Formats: sequence, C-alpha cells, structure tokens
Amino acid sequence: MAEVSSTIDALLHENREFPPPPDFAREAVANDPGIYDRAAKDPEAFWAGMAKELHWFKPWDKVLQWDPPFAQWFVGGKLNVSYNCLDRHLDGPRRNKAALIWEGEPGDWKVYTYWDLHREVCRFANALKSLGVEKGDRITIYLPMIPELPIAMLACARIGAPHSVIFGGFSAESIRGRINDCESKLIITADGGYRRGNVVPLKRNVDEALEETPTIEKVVVVRRTGTADDLMQSGRDIWWHDAVEGQSAKCDAEPMDSEDMLYLLYTSGTTGKPKGIVHTTGGYLVGVYTTSKYVFDLKEDDVYWCTADIGWVTGHSYIVYGPLANGATSVMYEGTPDHPDRDRFWAVVEKYGCTILYTAPTAIRTFMKWGEEYPERRDLSTLRLLGTVGEPINPEAWIWYWQNIGQGRCPVVDTWWQTETGMILVTPLPGLTTLKPGSATKPFPGITADVVDENGIPVAPGQGGLLVLTKPWPAMLRTIYGDPDRYIEQYWSRFPNLYFTGDGCKKDQDGYLWLLGRVDDVINVAAHRISTMEVESALVDHHAVVEAASIGRSDDIKGQAVVAFVTLKDTVTPSDELKVELKKHVTQKIGAIARPDDIFFTAELPKTRSGKIMRRLLRDIAEGRAIGDTTTLADSSVIQTLKEKYGEETEG
Ligand code: PRX
Repeated sequence: MAEVSSTIDALLHENREFPPPPDFAREAVANDPGIYDRAAKDPEAFWAGMAKELHWFKPWDKVLQWDPPFAQWFVGGKLNVSYNCLDRHLDGPRRNKAALIWEGEPGDWKVYTYWDLHREVCRFANALKSLGVEKGDRITIYLPMIPELPIAMLACARIGAPHSVIFGGFSAESIRGRINDCESKLIITADGGYRRGNVVPLKRNVDEALEETPTIEKVVVVRRTGTADDLMQSGRDIWWHDAVEGQSAKCDAEPMDSEDMLYLLYTSGTTGKPKGIVHTTGGYLVGVYTTSKYVFDLKEDDVYWCTADIGWVTGHSYIVYGPLANGATSVMYEGTPDHPDRDRFWAVVEKYGCTILYTAPTAIRTFMKWGEEYPERRDLSTLRLLGTVGEPINPEAWIWYWQNIGQGRCPVVDTWWQTETGMILVTPLPGLTTLKPGSATKPFPGITADVVDENGIPVAPGQGGLLVLTKPWPAMLRTIYGDPDRYIEQYWSRFPNLYFTGDGCKKDQDGYLWLLGRVDDVINVAAHRISTMEVESALVDHHAVVEAASIGRSDDIKGQAVVAFVTLKDTVTPSDELKVELKKHVTQKIGAIARPDDIFFTAELPKTRSGKIMRRLLRDIAEGRAIGDTTTLADSSVIQTLKEKYGEETEG
C-alpha cells in the first residue's frame, strides 16, 4: 500500500505519462498517427469515409449542410440503424457470434447471437406495428437492464418510431412529464427489475404516471419479476410475450432519411424542466460507429462491457448502437456492483472473459473504498483496455484503476462527451495517445474543441476557461424537442458560432484537455446530471417549504452530492423528521438520484439585489471554504448567519 501511495504522490506532483504499451500499439485499430492530420484537413471526407463502412439504402448527396446552429449530415442519404446493427452482420461469420451477453442480478443469464437478436427485434417490431405504431410515432421505454430494452430500441429504430428511454430510477412524475412533452403513444415497461436484491416496481410507477397522459394508448409489459400480474388493465396493457406470440421473424427495415429522428433522450439542463435531446439517424450512427471502433479498439473476438444503464446516453451509444454497428459482443448487466457481494463486476468480467471495460469514476472510487480484495478474488487477465466516462476522474482513481483492474497492462481511455454530443468527443486513442491520468487528452480525429475565456477568445496553453466545440460533428444533437429557441439559447448564444458545453477546462502546455466540471447550474451526481432548479422545484412543491436553493457539494465518491438550503413557512417547526420527509419528497418527485444528502434550514437565502439566489456562496459554505465576493448581495448579513449556523449544525 505504501508503495501505491508513493506512486500516486509521485504522479500528482510529477505528472507521469503513460505511452501506449508497444504490443497494444502494434495491433491497434487506430495505429497510424496520420489519422489526426487527415481528419483535420478534411473532416467531411473523414466522416464520409467512415460512413461508407455502413450500409445505406441510398447514398447521401452532401456530407454536411451547416446553417449555424443547425446541422444536417449525409443529406439525402437513406439508411436504417437496426439494419446496420443486425442485418449487416447476418451474411458472414458474425451471424452466429454473440451480439449480446446479458446477466440478470439474480444470476440468470442469456446470450443472443446476431441471428437471435435480429429475430427477436423483427418479432417485436411486428408486434409494435400490430399495436398500431407507425413511422414517426414516439415510443416511451421504461425498462430495467434486461434484453428486451435493446430489443425494443432496435425494433423502434427498425420501423422508424423514435424512442424515448427513461432511466428506471425516475419517478412517476418524471415519466409523466417526458411522455407528455413528446406526446408518446405507447410505453414499454416491465412489472419490475432487480436492484440490490430488491424489486423496483416499474409497472406501478407507470400506472401512476399514466393517470395524466392523454396520448398513451397501449402499455406493453415484460414479465420479469412476476410482481404485476394483478396490475394489468384490460384493453390498455398487454404482455410482451403475448404481443410477440405468432409474430413473423422477418420485418423489413424502414429506409429512414439520414436526418429522421432516431431517438429522444431527456436530460437536465439549467432550468427545472428536462430537455428532450433530439438525435437523428445517419450522423449519429456514423459518430457512434466510428468512436466505438477507434476508442475501444474493437476486434472481432473482443468481449466488451460498458457498465452504464441504457437509460442514459452512454448506454444508448456504447452498449447498443455503437458496439452492435461494429458487430461486437456487448455485455449487459442488470444490477448493482455489490450484489450479492462486492466482487460482482469482477465476477462478470471473469465469467464472460471481458476484454474491454467502460465504467464511471464514481464506481472506481467506490471500488477503491471497498479495497483490493474484491478484484483480487477474480481472474481479470482477459482485460486489455479500460475506459471511464461521466465526470472528471481524479488521478488517484485513475492510477488505482490502471493498477488494480488493468494490472498495469491496459490503457485507460478517459472519454469526455455529453448527452447532447451523442458520441465521444475528447478521448485518447489507446494505440496512439500518451496518457496523462486525469486528462481526457485530445479531441477525437475530425473534432475541433478549444478552451476559451469569458469573451470567447482561446486561452493560452497552461490556462483554464470554458470548453467549446468549434465545428459541427456528426452525432451532435439537432435540437431540443419542440423547442428550437431553447436549443439556440442553451448552446449557441453564449459565444457566436461556438457550441458551449457548460464545462470548465484547462489546456496544458501539450494541448491536453483537463475537464474541470460544470460551470452552470447542473450538478453531476455519480456521473448523472441533475439541475439545481429541478431539485428546488421539487422542494418548494412541499407544503412546508417557502423557498429552496440546491447546490452540488464536492463528494469523495460521487463527485458531487446534492445539498439543499430550505426556508420553511413561519408556521412550520424545523426538525430532523422534516428533513427526512423533504428528502423523500424529492425522491418521489424526481427519483433517488436527486435526493439531497443534506438539507439545511435557513430563515433567508443569500440573494443579489435583483433577487437571484447566489448558489456560488452556498457552495462556499457547504464546502467549508472562505466565502467569495459578496458585494452584489442585497443583505450581506444573511451569508454570515448562514455560515455560523451551518458550522454549528455540521459540527453537531
Ligand atoms: O460535465 C461533463 C461530464 O458529464 C457531463 C455530461 O453529462 P451527460 O449528458 O449525463 O453525459 C454523461 C455521459 C457522456 C459533461 O458536461 N463528463 C462526461 N464525461 C466526462 C465528464 N467530465 C469530465 N471528464 C469526462 N470524461
């Protein structure tokens, strides 16, 4: 251990570098450094070259149509994502290759070959059609991590019905908001899913959500846990197994326009209402296909495991669409890493011989806390490449991952991207890039990113600022569903013609990018996005609350934790019970990921003269820092009182 900590110490102070292991570099899919220059010289030709590796019913007329800030890629082209992920692999040896290896939390498991997956997708696509689903209809999916989830997505893609997948941890109210925003016609759910040995009652949440969703006509229910047999409403609800019964195993893939919507995915922004991020067909597929291939160095015999939930964008792009478009074997696991024991992830790696593992820094920090004994119990010798995503990784966690999981042999790709970007944008290429722990390194070939100051001027090497993207990229969001103005305002109004990521970033002397976290009112909890406003609206919805402010406080494991400052009605007595009740209320309104770790009662919140809550000062208080500039406060005594009170409560 002493040796490890001295290595870490050295790293933090000496800025150690990790060049690609020579054997890895020799065999790497991307092993020619010229890829960067070629792509930079003519990005459109680079992306067109990648697009040609996919199947098109009709080729495109134009690679890029850029009417800032609206982009169209592969204009005039026709293709189908499900065809590219399945049919394209059926003629050759991949036909009988494992497409999906799935493991349920209780230990049940199943392998789908490409042939199997194609059959099940076709059968379900036909089932959807027989339930009245037509091209263009929006379909909501609220499923646990079971095979029916990617099958449903691919079936939707096959018939041209955009899906909106909702993470299984979201509440009934969150489901309702998302269904109503996109006027979804049908929802696919399960009776329940397994999580840490318990059943998550998905169907019950859906039933509650559907009390006020006028557009939903049908509910398809997968029978997973056997816990909703008495909840089926006749005429509206239909079991998945009944819906696919007797359906043909052939279903022609609908030729889609390159710019037709593939899916919608709701994510938190800086306001209380989640935004429906719109991803389209051609550019998105080219983006996730290319990055999966080069970043994860996919070879024919790899067993690739991304531990994300498909309810988030990482699962969409790098469990389902990217790997399957490459004809890879993608592993999917239903439950938590500590069930039945803390070695579950390593048991999965050992059992299926995973060669590539892609996970989040928050998970790595949790494994660090649990200790090395758990990975040591299992054979991890098949692993050859590791990845991280979702939040900045601290060098200490990077080194731990590299040493204890990669056993010093596996490059670690720290990949930066967002729901909006659809694809990885800043990342090492494992056979080419010298790694620096804690840095996502450089933009992917064909991507141009920069760090700018408040005025949009690029900063000098060694300086920090805001990360922006200076040119359109194939998988970029096209708009916010139903709200193009918000799309412009949110991403393109801060600097003219630059996409504003919302992330702080430092550029070092070698041009490496070091992501520093969000600079807006988005909190990143365990690699999941929550907006301060969402938490605040959930709190003020409670009858005891007058006003609330929430912030992200640095957290050793989760990156950030939600902390809320709450002003109660005069008639309400503050109590610990009330804190518990308020936390429960937020969980009910949004989901457990938004639950505040701590709640503080305060008679007043620090505000500017124009009434804006100064969350920055609340963060200073919560993190025990010296209070920053308070000159714009309407009443500076508020912050002093709050600080004293906070100190007393945390000491107590
Ligand atoms: O702040 C950045 C952080 O996650 C945000 C995007 O969150 P989301 O849309 O939920 O997508 C997460 C998975 C792609 C970004 O604005 N983030 C993501 N990856 C990294 C990261 N921060 C630092 N390093 C990363 N590798």
